[in-house]
Amino acid sequence: MTTSIWTPSSWRKKPIVQQPQYPDLTALKQAENTLSNMPPLVFAGEINQLQSDLAKVAKGKAFLLQGGDCAESFSEFNADKIRDTFKVLMQMAIVMTFSASCPVVKVGRIAGQYAKPRSSDMESSDGIELPSYRGDIVNGIDFTNEARQADPERLVTAYNQAASTLNLVRAFSRGGFADLHQVHAWNQNFVTNSPLCEKYQILADQIDQSIRFMEACGINAKNTPQLHETSLYTSHEALLLGYEEALTRQDSLSGDWYDCSAHMLWIGDRTRQPDHAHVEFLRGVKNPVGIKVGPTTKPEDLDRLLAILNPNNEAGRITLIARMGADKITDFLPPLVRAVKSGGHNVIWSSDPMHGNTIKASSGYKTRSVESILKEMKGFFEVHRAEGTHAGGVHFEMTGQNVTECIGGAYMISEQDLGDRYHTHCDPRLNGEQALELAYLIADTLKSARH
Ligand code: PEP
Ligand code: CO
Repeated sequence: MTTSIWTPSSWRKKPIVQQPQYPDLTALKQAENTLSNMPPLVFAGEINQLQSDLAKVAKGKAFLLQGGDCAESFSEFNADKIRDTFKVLMQMAIVMTFSASCPVVKVGRIAGQYAKPRSSDMESSDGIELPSYRGDIVNGIDFTNEARQADPERLVTAYNQAASTLNLVRAFSRGGFADLHQVHAWNQNFVTNSPLCEKYQILADQIDQSIRFMEACGINAKNTPQLHETSLYTSHEALLLGYEEALTRQDSLSGDWYDCSAHMLWIGDRTRQPDHAHVEFLRGVKNPVGIKVGPTTKPEDLDRLLAILNPNNEAGRITLIARMGADKITDFLPPLVRAVKSGGHNVIWSSDPMHGNTIKASSGYKTRSVESILKEMKGFFEVHRAEGTHAGGVHFEMTGQNVTECIGGAYMISEQDLGDRYHTHCDPRLNGEQALELAYLIADTLKSARH
């Protein structure tokens, strides 16, 4: 077990994978220095609040909804896009809260999700080999030598874009847009007269009715701020550790360290080696930490990771995000769930039904089928029901925009449709309607679990 002293830079002495090779290390140092003088994006108090919200999830009293882009990009950055993602997350949360009477903790893959792990360091096309695209915080997506060079200035651009994104998210959360009187308005992007749209209108009517009833009883936005505002926390994969270190700050009251780049951070499936840099960095910050759990994760790996990352066994500190694949989940998850349970570890189990189900369509597009996403999610719920543990959350790659990246869903997007609106910079995302459709299914499952 790790006993050495932790500092924000102690990860630098550990082996590390999935990092870019910067041609200009002086420029990298300068960019990191610039960031370390920038204001934090989030505050210790908010991070603690998320942990206490997540502690309720760990105890089976709430549900975690985490979602957003696979990779945020610099080019697809505008207010409408942020608004649409915010809106769909709110719709999904309201469907789950209202239909299943279960509080939902909302966490976006937003305002910092710019760095991507890659299965190979290099990419080849037409006999030319170039460094892989590692997310806009590192290099450019175009397949040219210039774009693919790791550019430290991108760190500062990413920080600035995260700051403006967060500013808008905070405005939407607190400025009236998230008011429960607005549930009807959140729907307007959808194809009117779709069955899903109608289903949502009915639910919005019921909510209106409940609000009117509550107001008649004296419960209103003035005395109950929850009716008027919400919290959308931010999260991303803590992959590019120079960026994370530069935004790590010590809380003057407690002396504790917080990674102030986001409320929650997660460790990817490729960077969860217990003796490596990513685990070292995250063990020292107080933020809630997600750990991706894949088909290669062994029960003893989890035991070791949990001992390092959550030595005090705090509820809400750790979310285990299972991403097994639709055909593997029911075989691979039970031994892990049992090991965690018998070790007495306090964790949230969440399902990422996206990353184990990526396929290549014959047209060459990377895609996922709503059917396999649904199958993995159902498998996840089944395993937890059988083991008597709480299926605590879901983790989706999704957008509010009407993209055609995942196949299936109510509109039966086919392989041939993928080219119509395929905009992702990395993995295929659910579009707004596909995401909402899944939210209804989750709500039904949660409802039956509660009865
Ligand atoms: C991701 O969440 O975008 C990701 C790369 O996931 P994983 O580490 O589980 O493959
Ligand atoms: Co992804």
